[in-house]
Amino acid sequence: MSLNRRLFLQQLGTTIGAAALGNILFPSHASGKEFFNPDPVSPPINASDEDFWAWVQESYTVSPNIINLNNGGVSPQPKVVQDMFEKYNRLCNEAPSYYMWNILNQGREALRADLALFAGCSPEEIAIDRNTTEALDTIIYGFPFKPGDEVVLTKQDYPNVINALKLKEKRDGIVLKWVNLELPMENEDDIANAYISQFNEKTKLVNITHIINWIGQITPVKKIAKAAHERDIDVMVDGAHTFALLDFRIPDLDCDYFGTSLHKWMCAPFGSGLLYVKKDKISKIWALYPDANPLGDKITKFEALGTRSFASEMAIGGSLDFHLAIGSKRKETRLRFLKDYWANKVKNLPGIHIRTSFKPEYACAIGLVSVDGKKPGEVVQYLFDEYKIHTTGIEWENISGVRVTPNVYTNLRDLDKLVLALGKLSENMKK
Ligand SMILES: Cc1ncc(COP(=O)(O)O)c(C=O)c1O
Repeated sequence: MSLNRRLFLQQLGTTIGAAALGNILFPSHASGKEFFNPDPVSPPINASDEDFWAWVQESYTVSPNIINLNNGGVSPQPKVVQDMFEKYNRLCNEAPSYYMWNILNQGREALRADLALFAGCSPEEIAIDRNTTEALDTIIYGFPFKPGDEVVLTKQDYPNVINALKLKEKRDGIVLKWVNLELPMENEDDIANAYISQFNEKTKLVNITHIINWIGQITPVKKIAKAAHERDIDVMVDGAHTFALLDFRIPDLDCDYFGTSLHKWMCAPFGSGLLYVKKDKISKIWALYPDANPLGDKITKFEALGTRSFASEMAIGGSLDFHLAIGSKRKETRLRFLKDYWANKVKNLPGIHIRTSFKPEYACAIGLVSVDGKKPGEVVQYLFDEYKIHTTGIEWENISGVRVTPNVYTNLRDLDKLVLALGKLSENMKK
């Protein structure tokens, strides 16, 4: 057995063991900060060691009959996380208010501490919520805007964020300053300058999508944030696609607010997310679902969400353990390898165009491909009907194509099938 595979199994064994023992009061994530190393594996980066990745693939329960290449939408959970969720959920059903509030709730601060350690910030800056939408809406609706205040955003940001800001424009008279990016872009200064050119003395907030979901473009957040802060502008980051995909810590970005969905790259239960608010900004933001002190300086003021799934929240700890068993850098490298694997094989086929950068600074797992003479929806339908490959069609602003997103459980045979399918489309074009 290779050293890497043995390491992975050892680490995974710890996670599975904790779940199987099922000590509810001391779940695996409550092991305590002093025992918790945020990135325990310093792996040789074995992005193409299929022997190793086969074991990761085996940890999932994905359908063998459908090739899911839309992990950009939402990710499946490894079996160990599903088990943890089901165990907690069953327990809650024995006596909900007792097991939810009295028992499972004891894991909340330990989970917060573990997430904070992984995110590289203080637990006092992490609120556990349900998704990116909720996290960023908390900032958008809670920010103390006055009429005429300006917000910089792009046409390529996520619709939920755009719509919340448009609501604020209609209802409260803020002004939206739009950037239109021609993606893909491979020059940091060009991307940063597109935002910076919209800044002025009225600008109060900039929204930066860390990975733009439509094509997988990575943006130079830190550069834009530096320019924003020099002008006293707050920085909100949409990190739906970067947390647990790219190997970084939130403070590296120099942002004030960061929202993410843990059901994406962390592979946590559906409906789990987090909001980071820099310590000195907490009291500035009105809580969306307020506790008794909506302008207080405690991060927990953002968690008065009412009753929700404690099973989902507490099983986040299992997905964090699983993620760490692989290791952040190794996962990022593997996902970039998978995206380049299929994209390189089709990029020179007649009529097929890759719309995502091949440079590691500008793209990772997500790739967009377009086919001459075919609408994205037609290609999506063909891939599913003929090959049972599930992807998603993108037609948004100046972007058109089919988005392909593998995950750690994706094997090369599945990607070869995608390559074959796109090859057939290309051949048929010549006829
Ligand atoms: C860039 C971006 N932001 C926000 C979201 C919203 O995520 P959620 O539906 O988990 O709130 C998505 C979802 O795909 C996204 O791609």
